[in-house]
Amino acid sequence: MRTDITILCDNYVGRPGFIGEHGFSTLIESGDNRYLFDAGSGVGLSFNLKLLEKTLKGVSRIFLSHGHYDHTGGLKTALQETGPVNVVAHPKVFSRHFVKNPLMFANEPRYIGSPLSKEELAALGAQFTWVDQTRQVEDGIWFVTGVPSKPDQSFQDPQLLLQEGDAFSPDPISDDASLLIETSTDPVLLLGCAHAGVLNILDHLQDTLKIRKLRAILGGTHLMFFSPERIAAVIQRFEDFGVEQVGVCHCTGMNAVVALGAHFKDRFTAAAAGSVFSYD
Ligand SMILES: [Fe+2]
Ligand SMILES: [Fe+2]
Repeated sequence: MRTDITILCDNYVGRPGFIGEHGFSTLIESGDNRYLFDAGSGVGLSFNLKLLEKTLKGVSRIFLSHGHYDHTGGLKTALQETGPVNVVAHPKVFSRHFVKNPLMFANEPRYIGSPLSKEELAALGAQFTWVDQTRQVEDGIWFVTGVPSKPDQSFQDPQLLLQEGDAFSPDPISDDASLLIETSTDPVLLLGCAHAGVLNILDHLQDTLKIRKLRAILGGTHLMFFSPERIAAVIQRFEDFGVEQVGVCHCTGMNAVVALGAHFKDRFTAAAAGSVFSYD
């Protein structure tokens, strides 16, 4: 069965006329089944869908990688197109996620969680299914979450904060989730932001699902604050999984993109808005 993964929203555009934004969204079409993975920030989703001559009608499930606005801000637009639809997410997806980074105009902690509440999204037609541990959620699709954090390879982004009451603490983003999508050969790993740590996620796939080989790794890898040595370790781990295609984007960071591109050469491609990845 053929599976098409179309990048609807990304920081970069791969085709003329598309809107780029700080956000990520993909449409997964597998046989007659259609799913949305993340909804971007709400800026380009509807516009880019029109350029692709696609709609979200017939999407039977929306999967959320985590609650940050750049993955959930487009949910209102998405729900207007899908109508009432099942939304699969980690139960902590509506955590009070914040950022503190002067470069992002945030000298004080600024809220970067979902712009709409659970109740507001439910009123728009979202029917939530909460998943807090990795499990199969569709024929050929695994929702990968609850990833254990290994201290020697967990490099938390210090700018990201969690608000509990009046207090802020480093945000573990425990609502982080990815998708593992089976193909006729090896599965594809589709990442949102990989806040759980891309190395932790790969170890988890190996430990729990006995995955030893991946056909492709697509999506945001959140390597922007990794040192060259740590990026080299990630490249080696991708090689351990025999990855045939590396299509990283969104929050990967330019230094990591350059290093991954230089290493993987024709196995590397930018998963920019408008790009389509097809697997038999
Ligand atoms: Fe994020
Ligand atoms: Fe993100």
